[in-house]
Amino acid sequence: MAHINDNYLKLKAGYLFPEISRRVNAFVEANVSADVIRLGIGDVVKGIPRPIVDAMIEATEEMAHDESFQGYPPDQGQEFLREAIAEHDFAARGVNIGIDEIFVSDGAKCDSGNLQEIFAEDCVVALTDPVYPVYCDSNVMAGRTGEADEDGSYAGLVYMPCTAANNFTPKIPTGHVDIIYLCSPNNPTGTVMTREAMAEWIAYAKKEQAVILFDAAYEGYITDESIPHSIYEVEGAREVAIEFRSFSKNAGFTGIRCGYTVVPKELKGRAASGEEVDLHRLWARRHSTRFNGVAYPVQRGAAAAFSPAGRQAIQEIIAFYLENAAIMREKLRAIGITIYGGEHAPYLWLETPEGHDSWGFFDYLLNEAHVVGTPGAGFGAAGEGYFRLSAFNHRDKINEAMERISRL
Ligand code: MLT
Repeated sequence: MAHINDNYLKLKAGYLFPEISRRVNAFVEANVSADVIRLGIGDVVKGIPRPIVDAMIEATEEMAHDESFQGYPPDQGQEFLREAIAEHDFAARGVNIGIDEIFVSDGAKCDSGNLQEIFAEDCVVALTDPVYPVYCDSNVMAGRTGEADEDGSYAGLVYMPCTAANNFTPKIPTGHVDIIYLCSPNNPTGTVMTREAMAEWIAYAKKEQAVILFDAAYEGYITDESIPHSIYEVEGAREVAIEFRSFSKNAGFTGIRCGYTVVPKELKGRAASGEEVDLHRLWARRHSTRFNGVAYPVQRGAAAAFSPAGRQAIQEIIAFYLENAAIMREKLRAIGITIYGGEHAPYLWLETPEGHDSWGFFDYLLNEAHVVGTPGAGFGAAGEGYFRLSAFNHRDKINEAMERISRL
């Protein structure tokens, strides 16, 4: 019999969101008439903007003709898309990113889960707690941890608790780590990192020769000009940071799939021989070996997201979801719930009301209000006592969910 990767057996439960779906489906089966409102997984509900869809339709039509047909896409993504990314996501904010430093992919989830592969098994990994589960679970699968304890914390990982007590700001480790996952605007807490906080992390990473894996999938939701959209807006980041971006939460590509990762040429790691190695070279090798690119029509659609009409439509969608978040904050505060986030992110992070732990509150909301959220403990031990609500839904559903919760 083939030996399995035993590291998978260390994983505590199913992946968080399928686990929630399983519980919700069981509830719906037992309560067929219940009108369940889903504010759990951060999946968008608004249609993809027309200029983006039109670009995809046109590109799909091109595929029908020998003269314009496209086969395998270029390894790192189409140049027209990488040029648009470099110009609008970076140059427009004063950041110089070469198009050969951009790797177009099927999304930030996949890249943030896969990137650990280019590092050695004995690298020490630091994670915020709570954390987007992909960062943690992918390192467990890769064998960088021991077993989990009762709270679901894995031996060998350096956890940086982020709670109301420290204003959800991860404390820089006192010892050495090799890989640091940071996410701003943060999933799940909805809070943001300031420029000063990023500068401190960059200084620490330089000192420790560590690499920061910076997830900026929600940067489109930042409404305060002083908050950086990219870690590269902060001096020195090119030498220590890799950044993940996504078209999911802005252009509505959760089902279409497109994102990208930036690996600057300055970034180095060390081989067992002691030699310094370009991380860009390793990621390029990994990407070209294991990935065959994003569909041409999808890349055309992603590029159209940067057109004036595409950008305008995206701004309107983001404003809509942020307005949902504002409504939720107001209604929940009015009934005495303490809330964080939701200002620069589509997520609200609530303190669970007295007498409820986070899974208990999940069951309570599902059973009594038929509203689905995400238990904070599902994102890590320090998420216990918290609960995440997503603002991704239609306005009538948001209003109805708030009404039902207010009536409890
Ligand atoms: C979430 O709900 O945390 C996200 O939707 C998950 C994801 O983007 O993969």
